[in-house]
Amino acid sequence: MFDPCKVREDFPILKRKINNHPLIYFDNAASSQKPRQVIEAIKNFYENHNANVHRAVHTLSQEASQLYEDAHEEVAKFINANGIEEIIFVRGTTEAINLVAYAWGLRNLKKGDDVIVSLMEHHSNIVPWEILSNINGFNIKYAEVNNDGTLNYEDFESKISSKTKIVCYSHVSNVTGVINDVKRIAKVAHEYGALTLVDGAQSVPHLPVNVKDLDIDFLAFSGHKMLGPTGIGCLYGKRELLEGMAPFHGGGEMMREVSYNPKTKRCSISWNDLPWKFEAGTPNVGGGVGLMEAIKYLKKLGMENVKEHECNMTEYAMKRLSECRKVEVYGPKDTSIKCGIIPFGVDGLSSHDVALFLDNYGIMVRSGFHCAQPLHQIFKLSSSARVSFYIYNIRREIDRFIEVLKEIELI
Ligand code: ALA
Repeated sequence: MFDPCKVREDFPILKRKINNHPLIYFDNAASSQKPRQVIEAIKNFYENHNANVHRAVHTLSQEASQLYEDAHEEVAKFINANGIEEIIFVRGTTEAINLVAYAWGLRNLKKGDDVIVSLMEHHSNIVPWEILSNINGFNIKYAEVNNDGTLNYEDFESKISSKTKIVCYSHVSNVTGVINDVKRIAKVAHEYGALTLVDGAQSVPHLPVNVKDLDIDFLAFSGHKMLGPTGIGCLYGKRELLEGMAPFHGGGEMMREVSYNPKTKRCSISWNDLPWKFEAGTPNVGGGVGLMEAIKYLKKLGMENVKEHECNMTEYAMKRLSECRKVEVYGPKDTSIKCGIIPFGVDGLSSHDVALFLDNYGIMVRSGFHCAQPLHQIFKLSSSARVSFYIYNIRREIDRFIEVLKEIELI
């Protein structure tokens, strides 16, 4: 196990004071902080290697291209994909899901087909399917969530049928931290010939994820939640599926040849190889370099250790939260089925009031419905406050958080 106090030394922002209090950053599910190794790798890229990729023969372009490809390779190894042709760099989880919806769904989903989506999804895994359903006329079936925030597997499985074309669900809920049995659902989906799209935004940064072991077809995740910069994320897709899909965006890089035919007065186009077929335009090379460094950092700690640290933090925080008279924790209380995230409310106060009060003491938590309104409807809540942990959080911070919560209770 790593020493989180040592880890903290790598994160310059943790030295900051906010409102004259040491910063306590508990909003990691929204975005993580960055270690100096990642910041320096990005700085080094722009100071020494910056150029456009795959377009020029000069030295800088060659170096930038190599780094950008290395970054794909690093991601592929991290999630045990077959190679870089299965790793598409996008802006983040949202773009990855939209890519599947438009590049695959637009051509493959029609009236009479079912798309199954869980009700615990982030809006990014609901809205693209609703938009597309209004265009193509397929049906969306929402799989139910139990009152405690766990997935209703019986309901989920009963909705999958031979009409189902794709099953969309998160690995870890961004509201409750519940870890879903991805493999179990993938097995049922595949028995009916349906594809699986897993939102890994809250799992890839926090626990070991092996796409071969899970046997999923698509996996979406973001770099900025796993120590990397904003504006870079990934879509993993099984090679044969990506090969059969048309591009999402058109432009430079994604095509091999564009030739004008004077007879037809049209251009005919052939696509580039994977993954570039899906990466139109100048990509986020610096972002890729930052993400590669972030993965190297996480690998040094070990993803099993990252998970264990966050589970320990969650267990301790749940225990301490139970001392607070006016605090209600939402979602499952069983810490063995969740990791890293705790949604809660304080009796008589809105979630924003709670978050603002904590901010006065330098404690950053998220408030609102965390882009997951349907799940809040199930909890019969208009919003919640949420703490979410990462590798640099320590027990002392939880103790301070509880101390301040106890002050809020006196209001
Ligand atoms: N999806 C991010 C969150 O849960 C923004 O906060």
